[in-house]
Amino acid sequence: MRMRSTWIGAGLLGLALAAPGTGAADAPVSRGEEVYAARCKECHESGDERVPQRDTLARKTPAEIVAAMTGGPMTPMAEGLTPEDKQAVAAFLTGH
Ligand code: HEC
Repeated sequence: MRMRSTWIGAGLLGLALAAPGTGAADAPVSRGEEVYAARCKECHESGDERVPQRDTLARKTPAEIVAAMTGGPMTPMAEGLTPEDKQAVAAFLTGH
């Protein structure tokens, strides 16, 4: 009896550990939030009127945000980000 419940416990633990990798639908948004906080937030939530603030960025399309980072004015700020990272930030900001 004891052995049996230990094995069941190990099986559930295995499932729980595997879950983050399988939650593909959530992954881009959380990665986007991470990138945003690390690379963008400092300026885009600064309250500085010369910088479009987060609510302004949220009204853009994801494609416009990606374009700003890919040849647009935000290219230097997005240096080193992968296309997936840029897409993830755009999705995080716009909510789609
Ligand atoms: C050093 C401060 C700074 C950082 C860091 C920064 N931005 Fe910006 N961002 C600005 C400023 C200033 C503008 C306005 C630029 C302009 O109008 O030419 C701007 C404009 C934008 C725009 C609008 C561009 C347009 O074409 O109108 C987008 C979208 C944007 N930023 C996204 C981002 C994203 C995403 C990140 C993180 C990868 C980021 N920014 C990081 C300062 C910053």
